[in-house]
Amino acid sequence: MKTRIKKIAVLTSGGDAPGMNAAIRAVVRTCSYYHVECIGIYRGYQGMIEGDFKTMSARFVHHIIQKGGTILKSARSDEFRTKEGRKKAHKQLKDNNIDALVLVGGDGTFTGGMIFNEEFNFPIIGIPGTIDNDIFGTNFTIGYDTALNTVIDAIDKIRDTASSHNRLFFVEVMGRDAGFIALNTGVGAGAEEILIPEEDMGLDRLLESLKKSKRSGKSSSIVIVSEGDKTGKNVFELADYIEENLPQYEVRVSVLGHMQRGGSPSCFDRVLASRLGVKSVELLLDGKKNIMVGLIDNKVATTPLEKAVKGKHTINKELLRMSDILSV
Ligand code: F6P
Repeated sequence: MKTRIKKIAVLTSGGDAPGMNAAIRAVVRTCSYYHVECIGIYRGYQGMIEGDFKTMSARFVHHIIQKGGTILKSARSDEFRTKEGRKKAHKQLKDNNIDALVLVGGDGTFTGGMIFNEEFNFPIIGIPGTIDNDIFGTNFTIGYDTALNTVIDAIDKIRDTASSHNRLFFVEVMGRDAGFIALNTGVGAGAEEILIPEEDMGLDRLLESLKKSKRSGKSSSIVIVSEGDKTGKNVFELADYIEENLPQYEVRVSVLGHMQRGGSPSCFDRVLASRLGVKSVELLLDGKKNIMVGLIDNKVATTPLEKAVKGKHTINKELLRMSDILSV
């Protein structure tokens, strides 16, 4: 017989992402709909260790669907990496009669959740929330679409000034070890080159490509560099290298940084977060646990948490080939 779940807690952990609030709202309201108590855990796993809990009603989450960041705040907890820390966290959940957990975050969050479940057999559902889109088991993570739009908007602006001055810009975007943001914004913004960790293009090819751009009469060039790119040079070193080897170029660097994580979530991210939030609670009430909810072919799908952590979400290399054609 299934144990009836009476109290569900939700937390956000790791790097924040636009749409996390929409996910929190969906979890809270679905709990309310099914008459289950919902607890918000502040500051991710650190708040879980410290018992930083708050009962959340349907009204508590009003007007947050459009807000960036996370009302529950986020933290990366070193203490939760220790067995002692996880023991304290488990005691807090038990003392507060919490039956199950919904985790909104990325692979670090899910790894922590997986270990916690192995140690304490505690029911967990993961919701993928990160701008990096680097989670296996979902085509899209919450926050990725908004980040793409933020980046595109920034690159369009950089293009204005780049072409006014006939300059070459290296634009560094986030993504940790994954090139999803770089690749898709590169195609979407019409970048001349895209450097991503998954494909080492090599410096010679970059030089050749930029020479070709100059010969073809382009008034500006934009190279998108993913922060995890493995050419061996960071974005500033790349700029110096090009200035030394192609003096015909005036080069500038723009590192977009954390602005990519902020802002009001796009409609896509709000809907995605709402769908995954509702499903996470329904799955728990149905006795399911230790899975991640994601979106595959526009359907909500589930993946074992372990697979979500160990699997690799691969980029579409066809986009790189296309980008070469389109930047001719
Ligand atoms: O995972 C999201 C992300 O923004 C990555 O793209 C980036 O590498 C990292 O977090 C930055 O982390 P922090 O905010 O701790 O500097």
